[in-house]
Amino acid sequence: MKKVIVTGGAGFIGSHTCVELVAAGYEPVIVDDLRNSEERALEGIAKITGRVPLGYRIDCNDEGGMERVFAEHAPVHGVIHFAADKAVGESVADPLKYYHNNIGSLAILLRVMARHGVKRIVFSSSCTVYGQPEKMPVTETSPDRNASSPYGYTKVVCEQMLRDLSHADPLLKAVLLRYFNPIGAHPSAHIGELPRGVPTNLVPYVTQTAAGQREVLTINGNDYPTPDGTNVRDYIHVVDLARAHVMALDWMEKQAAPLCEVFNLGTGKGNSVLEVVKTFVEVNGVPVPHRFGPRRAGDVVSIWADVRKSRDELGWSCKLDLKDALRDAWRWQKGLERAAG
Ligand code: UD1
Repeated sequence: MKKVIVTGGAGFIGSHTCVELVAAGYEPVIVDDLRNSEERALEGIAKITGRVPLGYRIDCNDEGGMERVFAEHAPVHGVIHFAADKAVGESVADPLKYYHNNIGSLAILLRVMARHGVKRIVFSSSCTVYGQPEKMPVTETSPDRNASSPYGYTKVVCEQMLRDLSHADPLLKAVLLRYFNPIGAHPSAHIGELPRGVPTNLVPYVTQTAAGQREVLTINGNDYPTPDGTNVRDYIHVVDLARAHVMALDWMEKQAAPLCEVFNLGTGKGNSVLEVVKTFVEVNGVPVPHRFGPRRAGDVVSIWADVRKSRDELGWSCKLDLKDALRDAWRWQKGLERAAG
């Protein structure tokens, strides 16, 4: 079985991707120091796939530790690199943490890959590299160095690192996946999002409010130039997103090296914050108390993806929609409540 090292494999998108890797016949090898995830993600993966995944509790900045994993699992077919910090606000307050963890760890990973002759990497990037695009929907050729936070800038730099390396190494194949807004959970409710502390992302805040853990959802601004005044985003079901990683690995095989190709991963459709809240209430039949607050610093007004390139080249498209995602997110939240007693 082809072994794929999945950094951040216990995280939200990583755990769902491990499930899809197993379904496609790959063997994921998870490297995750659990700083922002929990061991029970591995149990969830095992429940869904019937196989306990290989896992190492290692920080990707620990070069010696990474060396050992690559040596133990040689030959490594490829790497999917999720491990990174992702809180926009925190990155403004503590930029060095982001430069060290996100950029530093990719440099180490690439060095270890080079030493072990591993030539395939799928990288977790973000639509944050587009900033506020002038034209919508945003395509892969839209200006892409417009990040407005240190977090976003780490994605710009990491993308450039991979581009530079693909120029220097004639055998390297890199795929950069620019995620829009991943939400939802596995329909089995065995894996999902596990935010630490107060969630900063919309959907975990919505589910925790519906569950009564939070009193009220504050919608960050209702005076934007959008149809209902709230921000518009492209919310993609995490299972659809996870499938795209496996398709990217398969697609790479058919391409000549060197390769550094970027793909948008979204639904191609924008929804406002209010639409998300209303849809959640409609599909789940639970109220979500909400109020309007001020705009959040750094938020772009609207962004959604042009997904024609992913469709035409990877042969990928979404099978699930906003309703599915919000139903699955709620099912997951209810499971968490039950587990907590
Ligand atoms: C941001 C980043 C994205 C990153 C993601 C990871 C930008 C432009 N986007 O996504 O690249 O991958 O974080 O965390 O930097 N909202 C509320 N109330 C809340 C929470 C959110 O109204 O309590 C609103 C936000 O203002 C926003 C929308 O919901 O309009 C989505 O927010 P969020 O889930 O945080 O994602 P982004 O900010 O779009």
